[in-house]
Amino acid sequence: MSILKELEKDLKNIVKQAGYEVEKLAFSPSNRKDLGEYQLNDAMQLVKIYKKNPRDIANDIVRELEKDERFTNINIAGPGFINITLSDEYKKDFLNKISKDIFSNIDKKNRKKVIIDFGGANVSKALHVGHLRSANLGEALKRLGRVMGYEVLGDAHLGDYGRPMGLVILEIKKKYPNLAFFDENYTGDYSEIELPITNSDLEKIYPLASTKSKEDEKYLEEARDITARLQKKEKGYYELWKKIVEISKKDIREVYDRLNVEYDLWLGESDAVEHFEELNEIFESENVLKDSEGAKIIELATEEDNFPMPPLLFIKSNGSISYETTDLATILQRKKDYNPDEIWYCVDGRQELHFEQVFRAAKKANLVDDSVNLEFIGFGTMNGKDGKPFKTRDGGVMTLKNLINLVTDETIKRIDPALVEKNERKTIAEQVAIAALKYADFLPFRSTDYIFEIDKFADLEGKTGPYLLYSTIRMKSLLNKAKSIKQEEFKIINSQTEEDIALTILNLPTILDKSLDTKSLNEIAEYLYNLTSLYNKFYAENKVLTEENKDLQESWLVLTNIVYNINTMLLDILGITVPNKM
Ligand code: ARG
Repeated sequence: MSILKELEKDLKNIVKQAGYEVEKLAFSPSNRKDLGEYQLNDAMQLVKIYKKNPRDIANDIVRELEKDERFTNINIAGPGFINITLSDEYKKDFLNKISKDIFSNIDKKNRKKVIIDFGGANVSKALHVGHLRSANLGEALKRLGRVMGYEVLGDAHLGDYGRPMGLVILEIKKKYPNLAFFDENYTGDYSEIELPITNSDLEKIYPLASTKSKEDEKYLEEARDITARLQKKEKGYYELWKKIVEISKKDIREVYDRLNVEYDLWLGESDAVEHFEELNEIFESENVLKDSEGAKIIELATEEDNFPMPPLLFIKSNGSISYETTDLATILQRKKDYNPDEIWYCVDGRQELHFEQVFRAAKKANLVDDSVNLEFIGFGTMNGKDGKPFKTRDGGVMTLKNLINLVTDETIKRIDPALVEKNERKTIAEQVAIAALKYADFLPFRSTDYIFEIDKFADLEGKTGPYLLYSTIRMKSLLNKAKSIKQEEFKIINSQTEEDIALTILNLPTILDKSLDTKSLNEIAEYLYNLTSLYNKFYAENKVLTEENKDLQESWLVLTNIVYNINTMLLDILGITVPNKM
């Protein structure tokens, strides 16, 4: 249990000793630190239950608090608000505990199995800015969940099924009609066929084919036909598709690597669709399907809805299945293979209705138990200065690769020119760029849109990723320089800044809980900035390496070490790597 939780438990007992029962303690950091570091507002809430004057209740509680040496400066403000301050002894005590193991100061949750569906990459299409937030958010929630004690699996859920695939294959067929994949009489080994196509060709082929299909009905018809054959796994088409997926996946993986995004599962829509027959049987036997002009639909609207809830199109009139149905099949597949307690979907906020439909249909057909939590974790967009999704200079789609390069070009100007070895400089600049991009992405609440401002994001000063990296590296370097000095015990609390740092450290579990509750990283991002700024204030106020009071010096180093460890843990949750230097 975290120190804060233990403290709250003890306070509850103290209130009980004073003669009062509270369900949830009204205990919070105070914004008037001069009056007390914390406020205990329970007296106000107990008035109704005990029909007593709040001041009398507060007095009873204070009498008990005064017996406890952990608290000082206990006073009552206004009608019955109790202010308390934590004693220096107690602060030293908990800092020493935390310094042994920062993870001991986290309130682990009951173990449960969570699958996070994030990224949303589509085969043969370039990852673009729209994919940034899902990757950042999903990866961070995966890491946060693990720190908090969950078993988490990240699934890439590739878009590798449906018409886009038919279109790409059709366009390849037009370009290279003689490829053996299109030869019905081919009997050789498909794996030996050279595909004269690179990933960057693929990325051009899809938009081209998509445009053609909109202008040319016959072309579209051909694409439909190929899609149908592909879905029947007709040998040549199916083998070609596998090659395309392979090429594309390799490239997608490279971009995710640069973003520190790692998947446990690289499954796609096509893997889920394998379970369609079984899904269909379940939905048939649960009697939730309705015929509608040759299609099969599921009615989802309820009396309580105050927005239109259209039915889910389960099977289209031409026999093909919808995006909604691929997601239902995915739920079935996940249940069979992993039986998760929760599935979280980190997807663009504009897909909220889609998921509401999918979840309702899944519950209606008892595809998963009622206890299984299916959660849509929507996010806003990263916009340009014009308020529209961020684009390239000439108005085109900004690929994720180009975005990373763009930010790297900016950060390279700001890192130490002495890191001359070209490669090293490039690698570090990219790590700093990723920190800039990710941190700026996490600062606003996840559903809020924000504007891409490269100068602001890459700045070494202010609320930025580079500032956090720079400061954290400096902590490490101080600890290294002080290697020969004792760094074992925190003995003296010397200044207000140190008190503030101690309280901020104590408060970490609250921040982690909030982030997990809201599935947003903004609290962690804010916290990192607050803790780091406080530390930098301390750093400016003191000369650690030349301090003559050895006990004080030792205490400072222990404090530095705690802050350094918290920073690296939280940055790691955000998927940000701290370089050795910059
Ligand atoms: N590939 C989809 C798209 O580009 C996003 C996938 C989101 N995840 C899901 N399970 N539907 O819109």
